[in-house]
Amino acid sequence: MALRLGILASGRGSNFQAILDACKQGTLDADVRVVISNNPEAGAVDRAKRERIPAHILSSQTHPEAHALDRAICRTLKDHGVDWVVLAGYLKKVGPVTLEAFEGRILNIHPALLPKFGGPGMYGLRVHEAVLRAGDKTTGVSIHLVDEEYDRGEVVARAEVPVLPGDSPDVLAARVLKQEHALLVSTLRRIAGGDLGGSVTTKGPR
Ligand code: GRF
Repeated sequence: MALRLGILASGRGSNFQAILDACKQGTLDADVRVVISNNPEAGAVDRAKRERIPAHILSSQTHPEAHALDRAICRTLKDHGVDWVVLAGYLKKVGPVTLEAFEGRILNIHPALLPKFGGPGMYGLRVHEAVLRAGDKTTGVSIHLVDEEYDRGEVVARAEVPVLPGDSPDVLAARVLKQEHALLVSTLRRIAGGDLGGSVTTKGPR
């Protein structure tokens, strides 16, 4: 049976799109059942609407009380029969009710080699700026299980990406993003195939 996914996204949604494309191409046996966003303007919400995938805006605006928001997110995922949750550019913490209900079945994608360049405030171009400032020659992508802290749960897949001389944060972000899309799809394929034992690091393009 196809893997039933729930996507949580705050922004552009290119990782969500990579999942959709792989499903359409038949390279991933999954079905995106619902998209949840805290941001009504998110590109991910437009993408969901275009594909006629249910999209819900659940945020501190719709649910000012954190526990009520957490419960609403959990309920929405359950109502759509979701097996696994993917945080695809979701900038909020996942609450304890949702974490417990989907324990070990929530993934986040992060554009660096965790535990480096992760944690509070490390999102978007800030990550790549920090990598360039540190002078690292290699960065990459990490996919990890989600717990109550930002970017901290067990890493289940990584891909390395070279940092090249003259890289700007934007150029580096674009190179990393390409690998994000590939790693997210290949990791979900592993999950769909019932295999998520041991983490895998792949070498990026040279
Ligand atoms: C990606 O870089 C992802 O690793 C990070 O947020 C960004 C989301 O991009 N968590 P998109 O919305 O999927 O295009």
